[in-house]
Amino acid sequence: MDHFQYRDGSLYAEDVNLSDIAAEVSTPVYVYSSATLQRHFRVFNEAFEGLDALICFAVKANSNQAVLKTLAKEGSGADVVSGGELKRALLAGIPAEKIVFSGVGKTPDEMRDALSANIKQFNVESEAELEVLNAVAKSMNMIAPVSVRVNPDVDAKTHAKISTGKAENKFGIPWVRVSRVYARIAELSNLNAVGVDVHIGSQLTDLKPFEAAFRKVVDLVINLRTQGHDIQHIDLGGGLGIPYDPDAETPPSPGAYGAMINKVLGDLDCSIILEPGRLIAGNAGVLLTSMLYEKESENKVFYILDAAMNDLSRPAMYDAYHDIIPVKEPSQTGGEQGNKVSADFVGPVCETGDTFAKARPTSPMTAGDLAVIKSAGAYGAVMASTYNSRALIPEVLVSGDKFAIIRKRQSLEDLIKLDQVPYWLADE
Ligand code: LLP
Repeated sequence: MDHFQYRDGSLYAEDVNLSDIAAEVSTPVYVYSSATLQRHFRVFNEAFEGLDALICFAVKANSNQAVLKTLAKEGSGADVVSGGELKRALLAGIPAEKIVFSGVGKTPDEMRDALSANIKQFNVESEAELEVLNAVAKSMNMIAPVSVRVNPDVDAKTHAKISTGKAENKFGIPWVRVSRVYARIAELSNLNAVGVDVHIGSQLTDLKPFEAAFRKVVDLVINLRTQGHDIQHIDLGGGLGIPYDPDAETPPSPGAYGAMINKVLGDLDCSIILEPGRLIAGNAGVLLTSMLYEKESENKVFYILDAAMNDLSRPAMYDAYHDIIPVKEPSQTGGEQGNKVSADFVGPVCETGDTFAKARPTSPMTAGDLAVIKSAGAYGAVMASTYNSRALIPEVLVSGDKFAIIRKRQSLEDLIKLDQVPYWLADE
């Protein structure tokens, strides 16, 4: 459930009319709902009641300081994958002891920053990384807490570009090498193996691949303990899907996911870490946009929006479905399907891939109308680029009847001034 609902003929985010935000901030703009973020966090958290669980929001999904602060106040930790995300999480007030550092390519500088901050653990993804982490920790006279990210060779049955748990993916340590790697950690003076980590992919809509992977991990923990390693926790990653298209997708509820995990863990005495990103932020945000033009071609209609693939790249990148609805409530005459037309929703970028939806049934819109692209709170703003020299768009956070700009619109001057003209091209 989210807090984007029609009221008196207009779409609201909580108690704020989206047309008021458009009037004040202009479009395109990302709009997030605090109450939805809080609700998603709480529902997820409640699914693990009775278990010793730490929820580390995957900062890659949405790294805005205001979003992170909202979640920090709920008690969230953070899963970070770069020095930048680490800095953002710490600045937002997420305590270091609730931060885990994942990712296949941590640099020594990033390791140093994370060690200085005293984070909870490093999720190590290769044997080479282990050796470097040990050397960095040694140079700082510290012991790095590590979990090995294992690759369980399980098919997550999700989009190929966001599937991470198959042997052919770049993530994690191959299953057959895992014991050897823990033995090596025990030999290294400045590492301490505290856990096991797994993440098989994103936008999973079925519990079975999770369960298959988690069962393997539980067996692994039992084995590792008999080999003398003191495994205290399992990091089960993120990946639980959300209903982008409620008619096509019915992902399991957080409750069902939690119950499955509880069952799989059995009486294994182990705390757990979870790294949800999309589930918390995805449906807590929309991309508010205006329609610039309507264009008819021989057999179709294009609705040309002011938002484009550089603002929200998911449809272009993964053929992802995002619901698109007008801000002005469509008249209900003619019933649910009444008055619908079919349109391609596209952006102004010069690529055919700049398409948000093809042949989408929609209530008719005209130039100047506002619409929202739904489920854009995760992997939206964070993946934006300035392609076609389009400035980064602003983000707004709503809380009850208040709203605030939480990232201002980039100016074209700021965008262009990052370029530097070398002296031999400088004007006389
Ligand atoms: N933990 C790790 C180690 C991850 O790699 C990810 C996502 C997560 C947690 C969070 O997964 P979530 O709960 O959000 O599914 N840009 C893509 C998604 C990439 C996900 C990458 N890793 C998209 O827009 O669908």
